[in-house]
Amino acid sequence: MDMKILVVGGGGREHAIARALSRCNGLQLFSVMATKNPGISQLAKKTLIHKETDASGVVGFAKEVGADYAFIGPEAPLEAGIVDDLERAGVACVGPGRAAARLETDKGFCREMMARHGIAGCPNYRICHSVDEAVSFIRDYGGELAIKPIGLTGGKGVRIMGEQVDAAGAISYVRQLGGNVVLEERLIGEEFTLQAFVDGSHLVSMPLVQDHKRAFEGDTGPNTGGMGSYSMPDHMLPFVSRKDHNTALDIMKSIVAVMSKIQEPYKGVLYGQFMNTADGPKVIEFNARFGDPEAMNVLSLLTSDLGDTVARITEGSLSSARVRFENAATVCKYIVPEGYPDAPHAGDKLTIGHPGTALLYYANVEDRDGQLFTRNSRTLAFVGIGPTLEGAEKSAEGAASSVEGHVRHRRDIGTTDLVNKRCNHMKELR
Ligand code: AMP
Ligand code: GLY
Repeated sequence: MDMKILVVGGGGREHAIARALSRCNGLQLFSVMATKNPGISQLAKKTLIHKETDASGVVGFAKEVGADYAFIGPEAPLEAGIVDDLERAGVACVGPGRAAARLETDKGFCREMMARHGIAGCPNYRICHSVDEAVSFIRDYGGELAIKPIGLTGGKGVRIMGEQVDAAGAISYVRQLGGNVVLEERLIGEEFTLQAFVDGSHLVSMPLVQDHKRAFEGDTGPNTGGMGSYSMPDHMLPFVSRKDHNTALDIMKSIVAVMSKIQEPYKGVLYGQFMNTADGPKVIEFNARFGDPEAMNVLSLLTSDLGDTVARITEGSLSSARVRFENAATVCKYIVPEGYPDAPHAGDKLTIGHPGTALLYYANVEDRDGQLFTRNSRTLAFVGIGPTLEGAEKSAEGAASSVEGHVRHRRDIGTTDLVNKRCNHMKELR
């Protein structure tokens, strides 16, 4: 198969997409990203350093290199309507158009659609458009709520009552946001991620992953874009039953069916973030793209041809028989600059000691003549792979702890202790 694919985005997720594509025969890779990712630029035949949300620049480059396909990594270009513009220019895309991407970019749209079409797993919610409306809802509700800005915040905009804020803190946060918020029932349980390739009507699901949003060990500190994640050899998680998995997948199938029914067919990668509660999985949110770090877990296990999947997503001919993932455990650990996420310190030197067998994915890092320097977001990630979670964790941890510089990572991700804690929590709830 001869195909030219443009990968849009320059993080760890896009490095994983680019590496999986680079394993395909007869495929030429091109890249556009805001800052240079040394891993992606090494794999790409040609790279454009350019604002990813500037559709005309991206379309111009796609045409210049003769790209047949584009794979959109991050959400911001989806929100900017890059898929609509690329498709008008004849480039087939993995990623939804602007209207269908509202599933992620407009939390109000997502909740209203779930409620209107009776899709299971929707928590109680209220979409507010003024400070007064939000404040009186918080006062009258009585229980704990999640406070979410309506638009994109890189996963960092949510405040949970009983965790980060009390009622007074919730009210002042709502004021700070000008009242445009979604208020949701606080869900209690264990989070998991289910990602699927989608071609408008068919879904092909990927191994379950658990991400770690909090900055510090023991799930403390501020929310981040994700500090790391793990997956199990059977592609399940020990606190998610087959029934829970089926429920989550059915919810995602219903979403895709409804999007098609309302004439906004969804194609690309659909990311479901679920809270496994005492009553089964509830939807925290959907993303219109791969998760970062979760893409690194699943794509490191992909043994089938991602180029073939790309073509099938755009043609509407996806088939689970043609997508295969290795039965191994993965543990991904992100190295981040000191001070991340609140006051990340950029421009610090870092050195990788002994990566061992772990895979290295570059993210927001500068390579100056072979010397690496931090920028102000997540720096790079290691993925350990092995027949057991313990082995995968050891591999990722060994690589991560060999990095020297003003950087840190979460040592607890993928450890037996932390996974047992999650299982015990689930047992207590059920
Ligand atoms: P989001 O930006 O929607 O992914 O939310 C960020 C994080 O906030 C999630 O990973 C959850 O840990 C938490 N969160 C979001 N919504 C809720 C909710 N309704 N109940 C409890 N926690 C939530
Ligand atoms: N890991 C969460 C996200 O990509 O939104």
